[in-house]
Amino acid sequence: MRNKLVAGNWKMHGSLTVNAGLLEGVRAGVAGLSADVAVCVPYPYLDQAETGLTGSNVAWGAQDVSEHALGAYTGEVSAAMLLDFGCRYVIVGHSERRSYYGDTDAIVAAKFEAALKVGLVPIFCVGETLDEREKSITAEVVTRQLDAVIERCGVAALAGAVIAYEPVWAIGTGRTATPEQAQEVHALIRQRVAQDDSGIAAGVRILYGGSMKPANARELMAQPDIDGGLIGGAALVAADFIAICAAA
Ligand code: PGA
Repeated sequence: MRNKLVAGNWKMHGSLTVNAGLLEGVRAGVAGLSADVAVCVPYPYLDQAETGLTGSNVAWGAQDVSEHALGAYTGEVSAAMLLDFGCRYVIVGHSERRSYYGDTDAIVAAKFEAALKVGLVPIFCVGETLDEREKSITAEVVTRQLDAVIERCGVAALAGAVIAYEPVWAIGTGRTATPEQAQEVHALIRQRVAQDDSGIAAGVRILYGGSMKPANARELMAQPDIDGGLIGGAALVAADFIAICAAA
């Protein structure tokens, strides 16, 4: 049985004041729940997350990482630096990084590798755009994104990672994939991994992301291949995030 994981992706939101209330609310609200819970915060707030969450059952992480270990890469943050702040997770390949910041499949695979190398758990995002879904190439796109990581890092690397299926058309749009639409792609992802290693496929957690909220979380997470959620908007409201964690 795979334990469910609910990870919040705060994106570029927050302030010291706002975060203090949110971290405290989440910390208290998920105490005693059986699901694994994490929040991925903007870099400057990692210290605040570490201080606010240490000793709780909420882990924390970042939203991106450099593919390089160190050096002359102005503006970048390495995986080792994230470890210095107690991070457990880091999101790689979020569609916003792919579409606005030029993260190609190859760069995402390199970031995945850099994270894994220091012992972080990559939350590796895949997903198709609306245009790709309408062209019926969802399977092709998601398989290509997965293959880039499997080819670079080997299928065994997925044992130390989490996959997140995030249909781009469902992110921040209020338009959630139906449980059946999501399950179909989750099953496809698991099958692709199983082609190379059935044991790893059975164990790897595949999160759904894209307008998950308290009202739809239970039904989505009841699907056999949906092992939790990557939550954007609803992760900014403690009560909503806690309700999703409770549903998990
Ligand atoms: P959303 O974002 O829940 O606001 O749709 C999810 C994500 O981008 O990770």
